[in-house]
Formats: sequence, C-alpha cells, structure tokens
Amino acid sequence: MSPRNRGTWVLIFLVIIPTLYIETSLSKVDPFAAKKKRMSDKVRQMFYHAYDNYMEYAFPHDELKPLTKTYTDSLSELGNLKLEHLPQEYNGSALSLIESLSSLVVLGNSTEFEKAVLWLSENLIFDVDARISLFECNIRVLGGLVSAHILATDSTNRLTKGTYNNQLLVLAEKLGQRFLPAFDTPTGLPYAWINLKYGVLENETTETSTSGCGSLILEMGALSHLTGDPRFESAALRALRKLWSMRSSLNLFGTTLDVKTGEWIEYSSGIGAGVDSFYEYLLKAHILFGRDEFWRMFQSAYVAVQKYFRHGPWYHEADMRTGRATYWQLTSLQAFWPGLQVLVGDIAAANLSHREFFYVWQKYGVLPERYLLDHQMLHPTEKYYPLRPEFAESTFYLYQATKDPWYLEVGESIVDSLNFHTRVEGGFASIRDVTTMELEDHQHSFFLAETCKYLYLLFDDSFLANQNYVFTTEGHPLPVLSSWHERLPDVYIIPSNWTSVKSEGQPKRASAMSLRICPAATPNCRHNHQTLESVCHVPDASTDHRCLTDEECGVDSISCRRRSCSMAGYCGLWLSL
Ligand SMILES: *[C@@H]1O[C@H](CO)[C@@H](O)[C@H](O)[C@H]1NC(C)=O
Ligand SMILES: *[C@@H]1O[C@H](CO)[C@@H](O)[C@H](O)[C@H]1NC(C)=O
Ligand SMILES: *[C@@H]1O[C@H](CO)[C@@H](O)[C@H](O)[C@H]1NC(C)=O
Ligand SMILES: *[C@@H]1O[C@H](CO)[C@@H](O)[C@H](O)[C@H]1NC(C)=O
Ligand SMILES: *[C@@H]1O[C@H](CO)[C@@H](O)[C@H](O)[C@H]1NC(C)=O
Repeated sequence: MSPRNRGTWVLIFLVIIPTLYIETSLSKVDPFAAKKKRMSDKVRQMFYHAYDNYMEYAFPHDELKPLTKTYTDSLSELGNLKLEHLPQEYNGSALSLIESLSSLVVLGNSTEFEKAVLWLSENLIFDVDARISLFECNIRVLGGLVSAHILATDSTNRLTKGTYNNQLLVLAEKLGQRFLPAFDTPTGLPYAWINLKYGVLENETTETSTSGCGSLILEMGALSHLTGDPRFESAALRALRKLWSMRSSLNLFGTTLDVKTGEWIEYSSGIGAGVDSFYEYLLKAHILFGRDEFWRMFQSAYVAVQKYFRHGPWYHEADMRTGRATYWQLTSLQAFWPGLQVLVGDIAAANLSHREFFYVWQKYGVLPERYLLDHQMLHPTEKYYPLRPEFAESTFYLYQATKDPWYLEVGESIVDSLNFHTRVEGGFASIRDVTTMELEDHQHSFFLAETCKYLYLLFDDSFLANQNYVFTTEGHPLPVLSSWHERLPDVYIIPSNWTSVKSEGQPKRASAMSLRICPAATPNCRHNHQTLESVCHVPDASTDHRCLTDEECGVDSISCRRRSCSMAGYCGLWLSL
C-alpha cells in the first residue's frame, strides 16, 4: 500500500509519470482546475507573507507580533494561562520556523527547507531553563522535527541533495529524552509541565488534561520507530492505556485529572478543548501503527461521543458518569471533528456539522472561540479568533472525500475572510473580538503549520499523490508505512479501483483517509466488506428498509443509534430525539 514498498521501479514510475500526468490531465479533466490554481496561488502568497515577516522581525524567537513587527518567546507561555514560572533567560527556539518546515515541503520550497534544516542543526538547543507544556512542545516541536526528518529523507521530495545527515532526528531524540522524566509518576500519566533543563520542578502541579496525556503517541511512537529506542513509544502507550482504564461505564472521559492519584478532577467533557486530540490520536495511531487495540478504543469512544454529546449537527458537553448534558456550547476547536469523521467514513454526519460551523463562520466572518448554543449568542468573554485551522482542516477532508465543489467555495470564503480581516503589513494578526474585528498582536505558529497548509492542500493536493499520510493534530504529515505496522489489518488493503471513481482520468491517489472511508456515494465500495462505510453503521436487513421486527433494522450511521421497525413496517429512528 505504501508505494515505496513495492520496489524501485514503482519509485521511478511515481517520480516521473505523475508529474507529467497531473499537469496534462488536471487542466483537461478537472473543470475546477483554473479556480484551484488561482486559489492555491493565493494561499501560497498568504503563507509567504506570514513566513517572510516572521523571518524578518521575529526569527529566531518563537512567534511574530505582526502589529508591532517584533517577537514573542511564547513556547514557555503556551497553555500557561496564569503565566507562572516564566523563564528569565530564554531567547526562543525558532518555534515558527520548526512549524513551517513541513509546510515548506508541501509548497515545494526545497531551497528554503534546506536552509532551515541547516540553521536548526547548528543552532537549536534544548538545554534551556524553560518550563514548557509537554503537550504543546510535543505536537509543535517534536512533531515538527520528526515530520520534517521523514520528509527530508524521502527521495521523492527531491530535497537535501546529499547534505542531510539526520540532524533533525538527532534534535528530536534529544528533545524526546527531555520529555521522559515527565512520565515518572505512580500512574505513568505524565506531568503537564516540564522544565527542559531541570526536569519536573519541585511542587509542580499534578493536574493535566485528557489530551495532555492521551495525545502523545503519534510523535513519540514515530520517534521510537525512527531511532529504535522504544522508551518514547512505551511511555506514551502506558499513559494512554492508563487513561483508557479511567473511562466511565458509558465509555466517556472527563477533561482534567490528577497524574499522581489517577483520579478525575473535571467530570464534564465534550469534543473540544482539553479532549479533542485524544479522540483524534486513537484513530490516527491505528492508521499509523496498525494496532487493533487503538481501533477498538477509538470505536468505543467514538460511539459514546455520538450517543451522548451529539444533538443534531451540534456537540454539547456531558458528565462522564451520567451522560447528562452540561454545557451547550460550540467551540472553534470542535470544528476538527467533521474531518475526523471523514477519516472513519461518516461523511453525512461530517457534512451536517460542517455546514453548521460554516453558518456560524458566515454570521461573524470567522469562527468565534465559543458560541452559546442554547442562547444562539457569543460567549461574553471568549469572542476571539486566533487564526485557528480546524474549520479549514475539515473543509479539506470533506473535499478530498467527496470532490464536491461546494467545499472549494467554503475554502475561498475562508481565504477571503482571513485576507480581509486579519492580514496586516507585518503578517497575519489574531482577532481579539469578532464583533468589532479588533486585532491582537500575535501570529500563532499553527497559522503556518496548519491553517495555510490545509487551505493549500484543499486547492492543490499534489503533495498527497504518491504517499499516504496521517496529519498530526498540528498538521505535520507522517507517512503511513507498512513497516511501521506490527501486523497489517485487512482493512488496509485499498481496493484497487474505488478511490479513483470520482476523479476519472487522474492518477489514482490515496491519502490517509482512503484507508478507511468509503463515501456512501461510491458504488464499488458499498459491497466491499473490507472497508467500513461508517464506524457504527449496520445496514438494515433489507435494502428497501422494510421490516417486520426491530431485529431486521440496523444502526444509523449518523447518530449511531439502533433503528427500529415502525407500525408501517419501515426501519427508522422512530424513538430518538
Ligand atoms: C538571551 O539574550 C540575552 C540578551 O541578548 C542575553 O544576555 C542572554 O545571555 C541570552 N540567554 C541565553 C540563555 O542565551
Ligand atoms: C522559498 O522561500 C523563500 C523565502 O520566502 C523565497 O524567497 C523563495 O522564492 C521561495 N522559493 C520558491 C520556489 O517558492
Ligand atoms: C514546595 O512546597 C513546600 C511545602 O509547601 C515548601 O516548603 C517549599 O518551599 C516548596 N518548594 C518550592 C521550590 O516552592
Ligand atoms: C451535504 O449536505 C448538503 C445539504 O444538506 C447536501 O446537499 C449535500 O449533498 C451533502 N453532501 C454530502 C457529500 O453528503
Ligand atoms: C473494481 O474491482 C473489483 C474487485 O477488484 C472488480 O470486480 C470490478 O470489476 C472493478 N471495477 C471496475 C470499474 O474496474
């Protein structure tokens, strides 16, 4: 399934043929080629505006302040709401440059990529007296380095002509080693904070979040596979298994917990802040490492989310013990969920939620951080939009799966909003208040790593043509390699013809999502038992949905609820709502 494992001749074929093929076939076959070209150029221009300003005014510090054209050494501030224990002598880790590495490859800029790799290998050090969030440093710095290392060694990218000697991997390994002391707790659940120089500080808080200890496995697992040192993967896996054992009888999780006692602190949770990437990593770890254990965890967790958090197209929060709804709020971070649903094949549910997010996006011009669903109004204080990528990410996944041009229009509207409201002379600025569009002096590194990357890939996915990738929660691509799968499950055998059904004439491409998804509209796929149409979907016994008893009805793919037989003799969701 990974083209590169099929031998050298395939490699040669893939390097030479698709380049010619894409250029000639796209313009003839794809009626949206002109629009895509225009839009991908626009996004490319956005990326360079953000990147060049960072390089000019902020590098090698962490992030750009675009309004005042200066910098902030924010790695030590990420997730640090009370801004405690800020370092005295920390001059940044070139965070935005590390975050830009994989985007430079996606944009095909090998010259700049090589320059960045060279600079980092000579200057980046982690022996700094800075207390950092393990979660943030893992997804941004470790993930950025590991992904860039793989891209640098991938000959199909034609990068680093003989000059690359695993410098990024050496850096990643050094960083990974500094993470390990955080896992030295009675439960194996890691501390949320660690000082890169001194390890876990005395009296460090033992409180962490579900995503803080449940979404480390992609980066740390990849690091173990690349270095042969199993300690990184084992630490992340042990933490994940412990967290899994703490689920409630309803298969729900809380949001915060204590790493010493292994007890929950906040019992209410949803799919947004503090939990989001935990669900994401269960599925993506399964795709990347092929362990059935991850798939089983994901499936139970996903079904519980659809059952207890979902209300129509919306997701609210609920108490993990009772399943009772607690907060009725839409948050900007939840917008990643439709993208995750695409990976498992729940296209209809993804489409439904995505449309509601777009409705709120259009209402304000961007997605506000928090929106009160029960009052249909903004949260009184969380009215900001820090250039978050999640909605663009879901739009990209939905377009990949459906090729419905409507998603290109959504993407265009996102690009226009960003340029209109957030572009300033010195880069792209966050929005402090979506009602006034007042700006804030901060260009987050994820704008370079994710927002620009997903928008670009929506309009130009040539990067995905030769390889299956899983994108980390920070948008850094990791290739799906059969050599990383302990045992390749049957579902990974991609049917040889269904991925190309919607794009006839184009070279067949398989992105990470084609491992699982089987859009309902794809006829060949329906009958292929090796792919799943949805995580929880069970079809009705009869294709015309007629029934005599409830036993002849299946499970609805959107709500994950069991359908029942009506008086008139049809399967449906008669008892729900
Ligand atoms: C950080 O920069 C300041 C000012 O240039 C310098 O005095 C200090 O030594 C630097 N600290 C480190 C750890 O490099
Ligand atoms: C790569 O990035 C650099 C820095 O922004 C830019 O000067 C150069 O033109 C880019 N090259 C390509 C091929 O886009
Ligand atoms: C840690 O807590 C103990 C007890 O509260 C206190 O005596 C000690 O000074 C604290 N240490 C630091 C470094 O804050
Ligand atoms: C998404 O929803 C819209 C509106 O309900 C519908 O017209 C469209 O066909 C749907 N697309 C998919 C791929 O389900
Ligand atoms: C798709 O593949 C299946 C099984 O490999 C085969 O039976 C079917 O004829 C193929 N369909 C097309 C359109 O090539």
